[in-house]
Amino acid sequence: MPSYAVVGASRGIGLEYVRQLASRPDAVVFAIVRNPERSSHLKAVAASLQNVHIIAGDVADYSTLEKAAKQVSEITNGKLDCLIHNAAHMDINTAYKGFDHYTNMEELDADFIHAFKINSLGPIHSITAFLPLLRASNARTKKIIVIGSGAGDLKAVQTFNMTNMVAYGMTKAAATIATTKFALTLKDEGFVVVTLSPGLVDTSDTATADRDAMLEGYAAFTTSVKNASGIEITAQTPETSIAAQLKVIDGLEASQNGLFLAHTGGEYSAAR
Ligand SMILES: NC(=O)c1ccc[n+]([C@@H]2O[C@H](COP(=O)([O-])OP(=O)(O)OC[C@H]3O[C@@H](n4cnc5c(N)ncnc54)[C@H](OP(=O)(O)O)[C@@H]3O)[C@@H](O)[C@H]2O)c1
Repeated sequence: MPSYAVVGASRGIGLEYVRQLASRPDAVVFAIVRNPERSSHLKAVAASLQNVHIIAGDVADYSTLEKAAKQVSEITNGKLDCLIHNAAHMDINTAYKGFDHYTNMEELDADFIHAFKINSLGPIHSITAFLPLLRASNARTKKIIVIGSGAGDLKAVQTFNMTNMVAYGMTKAAATIATTKFALTLKDEGFVVVTLSPGLVDTSDTATADRDAMLEGYAAFTTSVKNASGIEITAQTPETSIAAQLKVIDGLEASQNGLFLAHTGGEYSAAR
């Protein structure tokens, strides 16, 4: 019975991961969310599913993830086959900001520090908390996937002229480096550890933010990408993106350890 933990599973991409993984008849899925009570979309999805366990865990607070790992361990006999770290701070009010969009340096510092705690330290906290369970897995390949973003990729920042998304992009870049460092550390223990880009995904259906503001954000982003690079990007549905991501995850091989992969397969590249 393959076991999956999806960290940051209340809505958006994480929620769709839970839905698609739970549809695999033999899978057990742990949906880690910072507020189980308020995760209404997840609760609705999980209500009819026996193989989904909703567990509390805030990626900015390591002790809560230690507790989450303990709860998972009690159900799986101390094992976990695959960790998908998805949680991120993507507040529509701040995510698209450039350096000069902050009123003052205190406001900039506060936003960066908040984003760093969730986007950069978050994956380190998740991986560390679940590592003993992953190490105990009997799976042929133990898998750790951190969901990354082109906003944190140097080439993409240049190709798409991404002067904005400063806190989000820089903190996602730090997460990619952290993920690769875990990959190198765990390479001789049967692990494949990767960063995986989902592509642009419209998560407005399950968002807590203003839906129109999110759609405007996607439109402004795709227009600026087209103007900068000539590349046309269209937002995918969560269903399409996660189906593609799961194909990549199912097919992960040792040779991919430490890479930043695209949901379409192969290494992430701004030019595709
Ligand atoms: N959507 C895209 O186009 C896109 C593109 C590139 C990369 N990504 C990446 O894909 C991932 C998911 O994005 P999304 O679009 O689905 O975002 P989203 O709809 O904003 O969902 C973010 C998720 O992270 C959770 N989260 C935030 N802070 C947390 C914390 N401290 N502890 C635990 N969970 C926390 C949220 O839970 P709450 O409900 O509790 O807030 C929510 O479940 C992110 O890593 C993002 O960087 C997305």
